[in-house]
Amino acid sequence: YVIGIDLGTSAVKALLVDQKGHVAAEASEDFPLYHDQPGYSEQDPDDWVRQTKKAIRSLIQHSKVAPQAIKGLSFSGQMHGLVLLDKNMRPLRRAILWNDTRTTQECHEIEAQVGLKDLLAIAKNRALEGFTLPKLLWVKKHEPEQFQHATTFLLPKDYVRYHLTGQVGMDLSDAAGTLLLDITNRRWSAKIAERLGVDLTLCPPIVEAEACVGHLTRGAASETGLTEETMVFAGGADNACGAIGSGILSEGKTMCSIGTSGVVLSYEPSGNQDFSGKVHYFNHAKKGSFYTMGVTLAAGYSLDWFKKTFVKAESFEALFQHIKEVPVGSKGLLFTPYIVGERTPHADSSIRGSFIGVDATHTKWDFARAVVEGITFSLNESINILKESGKTIDSVISIGGGAKSEEWLQIQADVFDAPIIKLKNEQGPGMGAAMLAAVGCGFFPSLEACSDVFIEVERQISPIPENVQAYKALFKLYQTVYGQTQTLSE
Ligand code: XUL
Repeated sequence: YVIGIDLGTSAVKALLVDQKGHVAAEASEDFPLYHDQPGYSEQDPDDWVRQTKKAIRSLIQHSKVAPQAIKGLSFSGQMHGLVLLDKNMRPLRRAILWNDTRTTQECHEIEAQVGLKDLLAIAKNRALEGFTLPKLLWVKKHEPEQFQHATTFLLPKDYVRYHLTGQVGMDLSDAAGTLLLDITNRRWSAKIAERLGVDLTLCPPIVEAEACVGHLTRGAASETGLTEETMVFAGGADNACGAIGSGILSEGKTMCSIGTSGVVLSYEPSGNQDFSGKVHYFNHAKKGSFYTMGVTLAAGYSLDWFKKTFVKAESFEALFQHIKEVPVGSKGLLFTPYIVGERTPHADSSIRGSFIGVDATHTKWDFARAVVEGITFSLNESINILKESGKTIDSVISIGGGAKSEEWLQIQADVFDAPIIKLKNEQGPGMGAAMLAAVGCGFFPSLEACSDVFIEVERQISPIPENVQAYKALFKLYQTVYGQTQTLSE
């Protein structure tokens, strides 16, 4: 057996998986998210550690599997969050998360001081508020008294792993999301650090996602119920692990993952292509490979917001029953999901969402469908960028919350104009983490061999031609809304 831990934004989920990829048990524990000011999004790193240990403990208690039979453990983690640590490895402040947008000024400074051309050549990405480096510069500028005590920084899952193993390190796929990494050469960029006055000694050692970083400490073993023999593998960024868990391991494979954020992600065999920063370009958790990705900041989050605000009592299943009754195009109602700003394609944290075309006859279910369509249009912007870069998208593997509804799967097929593949018993990034551990433990010679056993296709959803045509026209309209509403958000 192996354990895959997915440290998300709302909860940590632990999966106990056998050698055939079957889930023997799962446990989840949540933790608070702090929004002290608009645009701020923080969590307490020690909440992650405590709740992860608790999740592992309850996983073991609820399964009949002996702890000795659990050979390895690995992680998937929410990306980019800054965990700034002092010399005793204590957090100097709460972690600043991927969806925190306070760092627009720092992003401008990074692009000016490093130079956009060099930044794209080295870090392969534009400076976006969500990434770690702008957060580091923000703390340096606004909280110098804390910053002067900083000796290193980690990303969320790396901090949890440190607590389980005593080993300090950051895996390559997550390091790629800091904007301080030389993506192609797979090392910290002295040039970027120097131009911004960042001390490179703050950067932790880099390890491969597949690397064994050690074993559980005695304390962690007793707190979790595991044994000190359990091998711990570094693990990767949640999007990279989601990709592994859905078999995105070779060229031509694309996935759409809808969770709090939504991503469209495509495998890249090399790290030296030029996407001009239009999509994110990161190291994959499969050694030596890369991926491109477009991000919708508020995907599931938009639907969650809508449901909480307007239809509290309904379950998501019931909500989608209503959505199914509403015709394609939501009777002329159009939604842009920019409720916390947008990443791809606009990289604009100050834009806000809109409903366009509101009519006195619209019901709340028309609004609900418009929200789902708007999220899917936003994801289609990323699909379009990938197509424009020359990629052929024959099919899209859909995972996460968006793959749980028949209606949303059909909307994805119709908006993307591509067959959608739904996986059997899909478990998202946690399964990718479990696969890293299964390969690390030697159960399989490679991630590909592991995915042959672990990943099964349930079925394929084909686009419906007349819906495709209708959505093509609506998508054109959708694309004009950003420009029309941008000045209103300023
Ligand atoms: C990716 C991103 C999000 C988080 C969610 O760049 O910011 O998808 O990884 O956990």
